[in-house]
Amino acid sequence: MQIGNLHLDHPVFLAPMAGVTDHPFRVLCRRFGAGLVYTEFVSANGVIRESAKTLDLVRFTPEERPIGIQLFGEEPETIAQSAAALAERFQPDLIDLNFGCPVPKVTRKGAGSAMLRDLELMRAVMEATVKAVPQLPVTVKMRAGWDRSCIVATEAAVIIEEAGGAAIALHPRTTKQQFTGRAEWSLIKAVKERVSIPVIGNGDIFAPEDALRMFEETGCDAVMVARGALGSPWLFRQIRELREGKSPTEVTLGDIARVCGEHFKLMLADKSPQAAVNYTKKHFSHYLKGFPGAVKWRKGFMDCRSTDEIARLLEEFTHFAESSTDGAHAELAAEKEPVTS
Ligand SMILES: Cc1cc2nc3c(=O)[nH]c(=O)nc-3n(C[C@H](O)[C@H](O)[C@H](O)COP(=O)(O)O)c2cc1C
Repeated sequence: MQIGNLHLDHPVFLAPMAGVTDHPFRVLCRRFGAGLVYTEFVSANGVIRESAKTLDLVRFTPEERPIGIQLFGEEPETIAQSAAALAERFQPDLIDLNFGCPVPKVTRKGAGSAMLRDLELMRAVMEATVKAVPQLPVTVKMRAGWDRSCIVATEAAVIIEEAGGAAIALHPRTTKQQFTGRAEWSLIKAVKERVSIPVIGNGDIFAPEDALRMFEETGCDAVMVARGALGSPWLFRQIRELREGKSPTEVTLGDIARVCGEHFKLMLADKSPQAAVNYTKKHFSHYLKGFPGAVKWRKGFMDCRSTDEIARLLEEFTHFAESSTDGAHAELAAEKEPVTS
């Protein structure tokens, strides 16, 4: 598929997730075949202030391409200027604007999904950003509306297209819904029928079959996975296999241990020791589910205080995984609990 001038091989993308889709996780998901990855959302104001913390969130390596940097803000000129600054400094493959974040700290200022309550401001943000980075596609990721009485997905999509947007990702829940209920995929179909730019469907893909069903039911051009990829980066490979008419490769406990090892190595190389410990705990709590003894291993990693302790326990876990699985498959998908942060 094509987003503006950007060609993408595999229409299955890793969604932006704050505190999750950092450099190590993006690399891992790309290795498993994610067709496009995004940084977590970063503040346009932070970019303009050249905040070291903000800029650290957007650095990436060539292995992660194609990659989009996601921005949030409330003021058209600030967003446009920060998009231009990021484009010049980091040369991402696209700039994505966040019109979906439901967190009060963000919406109180009029950013994130609050933009769905002011579509003329949204238009101004789009127009200013498209003008500021003519060399890059500018895309949007949004929710369906503020609440049930304010579903504006198709109206907003038309404005985004008119203003020069190159693609729209829709997570069809409202701000008020947060993560409750189900994503209303019929709204993805409705948006797809109204605009001619690519539409990326997002929401509630936890298994390869969900992705296929979203393509079929909505006619979307690509799908985007967030929570389903936590502790399961191989989901991208499985979806590709299913789309190619093959049976998705099942994952063994040995595979899980290998991916944990690979992920840990990437985190060690990327972060301070303390941050590597914290991020390892966060990600391992997702990997270590759905097999006999998972609770014990999870607790073991949660109790680790240093990267050395993690490395030792990981070695033990790898021995356990290789000796106990004997080719048996871990049934992970059924065990996945939705994250609601
Ligand atoms: C921990 C977490 C952090 C998130 N951070 C972002 C973010 O920075 N930008 C964004 O557009 N969406 C963010 N989201 C929303 C996801 O990208 C996605 O739209 C949502 O989780 C629905 O997709 P899913 O059902 O595949 O999880 C976040 C979601 C989670 C669970």
